[in-house]
Amino acid sequence: MSVLKKKLGRDAIEHSSVDELRQLQLERLRWSLNHAYRNVAHYKKAFDMAGVHPDELNSLSDLARFPFTTKQDLRDNYPFGMLAVPREQVSRIHASSGTTGKPTVVAYTAHDISVWADLMARSMWAGGARPGDIAHIAYGYGLFTGGLGAHYGAERLGCTVVPMSGGQTEKQVQLIQDFRPDVIMVTPSYFCNLLDEMDRVGINPHDSSLRIGIFGAEPWTDRMRSEIETRAHINAVDIYGLSELMGPGVAMECVESKDGPVVWEDHFFPEIIDPVTGDPVSDGEPGELVFTSLSKEAMPIIRYRTRDLTKLLAPTSRSMRRIGKITGRSDDMLIIRGVNLFPTQVEEQVLQIPQLASHYQLVVSRQGNMDTLQVLAELRPEFDLFSDTERQAVIQQLGHAIKVHIGVTATIDLRRSGEIERTLTGKARRVVDLRRR
Ligand code: DLL
Repeated sequence: MSVLKKKLGRDAIEHSSVDELRQLQLERLRWSLNHAYRNVAHYKKAFDMAGVHPDELNSLSDLARFPFTTKQDLRDNYPFGMLAVPREQVSRIHASSGTTGKPTVVAYTAHDISVWADLMARSMWAGGARPGDIAHIAYGYGLFTGGLGAHYGAERLGCTVVPMSGGQTEKQVQLIQDFRPDVIMVTPSYFCNLLDEMDRVGINPHDSSLRIGIFGAEPWTDRMRSEIETRAHINAVDIYGLSELMGPGVAMECVESKDGPVVWEDHFFPEIIDPVTGDPVSDGEPGELVFTSLSKEAMPIIRYRTRDLTKLLAPTSRSMRRIGKITGRSDDMLIIRGVNLFPTQVEEQVLQIPQLASHYQLVVSRQGNMDTLQVLAELRPEFDLFSDTERQAVIQQLGHAIKVHIGVTATIDLRRSGEIERTLTGKARRVVDLRRR
């Protein structure tokens, strides 16, 4: 490995010129559109109906003429209708949990798995992990892509892997004490549970061996980053991905800049669109993230509407563009009496109040024709014995902050430490919407 790669990244393409990168993307995009068109009935039909043909792609901007793919398209073709290779060439299946109906399936050839491992190794390197590190993986193993995706990447990088998976919080903490990992890969909300458990058993997280946390799979704010970094004395970096595309490692934040995940643009072409009109918007403008795979064999995906809201940002630590923090998913947006609201906005406010822990939940219900918002917040353990007056002060402070900064009136339900639901599988349940019941 050259000195340059050692210093700045794992792969030369991470530092290519823009021209070189765009050329590679154009070649790969042509291949991917053709591969999808020739081998997947859904794409043939959708392209024909839109009156477009892969051979008409002369520049990257021509991609905007091709039709979107949605989660519904994947559901309609459940389980194997989107395969572009014979089933016998598929070496692994993952599926996204999905809250309703059938899960969406994603399939990989052996080559796809290898590319994924490479991209995860590249991601871990960007996050500050190095060969020889011990990596504790607490993303769930199984159909969820988090555990196995991280696992293969960590092995590819040359780490010693602890395949802990999710749950068993006490055991996780015990193994972190015993095996002394350098890196932990887990959802940020579950990592907070691990820190709580360390506090409970009298371990100072500052004394733990952990150096780096690679956190993703759910939205989290920069305030949550500061909270975690202060509590644990680690570098907390953001990893993004989704099963429909591959899993974790579609984009990864560099530890040296911590300024949003870099999209690995040599394998995934990003666009931001206006979620209402579907028209592409310029870099820097907010909108919905759309991805086209450039190298996937088993299940190419063309202009997939992720529903994730963010913006594309200019390159910094690498030659590829970054995404800003995901503010939320368009389908998670709450509208409370006309005000649009994402859970991450409430997170911002909760974490500004020193007496409050990082656990919170939004409960939305309807009284008559009015939507009402209740915010469950939790005291840090050292404040559990607060008097009624002290509790009232915190309640008032949070209610006021939400009103002033977000513009909605919320009732605050202040709980003692440990009283808000924890999900052991990793992704926190930030919203309970009683209106849908
Ligand atoms: O969550 C893949 C993953 C595993 C990513 C481990 C990172 C780490 P899905 O279960 O299909 O896959 O969920 C994908 O999770 O569309 C986003 O809404 C959200 N998401 C993932 N990473 C982030 C992140 C995995 N870093 C959905 N920030 C995506 C915000 C994220 N949201």
